[in-house]
Amino acid sequence: MPKYFHISTMGCQMNESSSDSMITHLKEAGYRQATGPENADLMLINTCTVRAKAQQKAYSLLGRMIKLTKKRPDVILGFMGCIAQQEGAGLLKKFSRLDFVLGTREGERIIEILERVENGKERIVATDLSIKPVSILSPRDHFKGRVKDFLSIMEGCDNFCSYCIVPHVRGREVSHPPREILKQARNMVFQGIKDITLLGQNVNSYSFTENGDQPVQFFELLKMLNSLDGLKRIRFTTSHPKDLSVELINCFGSLDKLCAHIHLPFQSGSNSILKAMNRKYTRNKYIKLIENLREVRPDISITSDVIVGFPGETQKDFDLTLDLMDKIEFDNLFSFKYSDRRGTIAADMSDKVGEAVMTDRLNILQNRQREITFKKNKVLEGRIVEVLVEGKSKKGGQFTGRTKTNKVVNFTCNKIEVGDLIQVEIKQAFFNSLRGVATSDDS
Ligand code: 5AD
Ligand code: SF4
Repeated sequence: MPKYFHISTMGCQMNESSSDSMITHLKEAGYRQATGPENADLMLINTCTVRAKAQQKAYSLLGRMIKLTKKRPDVILGFMGCIAQQEGAGLLKKFSRLDFVLGTREGERIIEILERVENGKERIVATDLSIKPVSILSPRDHFKGRVKDFLSIMEGCDNFCSYCIVPHVRGREVSHPPREILKQARNMVFQGIKDITLLGQNVNSYSFTENGDQPVQFFELLKMLNSLDGLKRIRFTTSHPKDLSVELINCFGSLDKLCAHIHLPFQSGSNSILKAMNRKYTRNKYIKLIENLREVRPDISITSDVIVGFPGETQKDFDLTLDLMDKIEFDNLFSFKYSDRRGTIAADMSDKVGEAVMTDRLNILQNRQREITFKKNKVLEGRIVEVLVEGKSKKGGQFTGRTKTNKVVNFTCNKIEVGDLIQVEIKQAFFNSLRGVATSDDS
């Protein structure tokens, strides 16, 4: 009898990517993917702990999964990802139903762990963070039916921004070898992928050295990927302003497959807050980087992350954040209330900002950004843009895809295949998407 697994993935794209690797391991060992957790012999939750809210969500999902296993004591239940790494053995104490805890660097061990749980009825904690991660080649049919996907090029983060739990739970930066990245990219293209997003906590600091050779830097990796036949679009996320080199900025002008979009978190518009965050750049440096990017690629879309209510953030600091937003005019912004994370430097800082003030600031900031996003989308009305067709949109008779600038376009078209690149005239802009008509249909 084949065994079935179900994996629930929470949090960022790095977790999506580690779940994909887990699926590969399990399938190679003969497991099949269940249609839902209620049909699974193995239930896995891949967790996130970047903010307190994400952590609460993971615990409430675990509660629901435990309920599902009430009448099925043989089901194996595992917690993996960032909470697993952070809490380790404490989780087994807290949740008696949990069979194993699998940290962010021990995914390779899943089959051995499952055997030990099944045979010895052992409960296992695997949270060694010093293990060197290996990149794995996904199976031949893994990407079938998809036109875009992620490719993880490095693990971990060395930056220790003072608010961030990531370096504590994902370990030090390790870059994967270029030849393995290229092999995986070829594998993806062979299966129909047209649009690859290179993934890492800070891809700008990608650097791989072998046998004492000169290190391969991120911009060089981009050049290698740009010459891959059949690949149409390359993206990357996430970037750190302190590591955005001139060579990398110039790639936006010279590499035809590199999409006109960068996600460049700024976190705060105030120099004193940036310093307390240990971000290692100033607001002027950030503004200059955006100017340089726009010089090289005037149509580039800029998205970013920002935190409100970092400890010690005054009204003046917050006004500087709003001012930076007005100066840059981001295409889109992901905004968060500061959340204390145990073990980070910021968690021990005094002068915490109250919840009500954070809520107010977040509302003000999000309303301001909605106006900016809408204004930027409006500019595209009447323009013709290139769209990669991703599938049928939820609304009947329409297709959906993305521009090079990563904006969602819903459009009508007579004859089209998923994976085609087509020209679409934008007829109407909304807050979160654009509506258009394929130019060949526009009579
Ligand atoms: N509180 C609030 N937001 C955070 N982020 C990271 N850590 C925290 C925290 N402790 C945000 C940052 C980061 C994004 C992924 O999550 O903006 O860029
Ligand atoms: Fe966290 Fe900073 Fe690393 Fe991003 S760069 S993962 S915010 S420590």
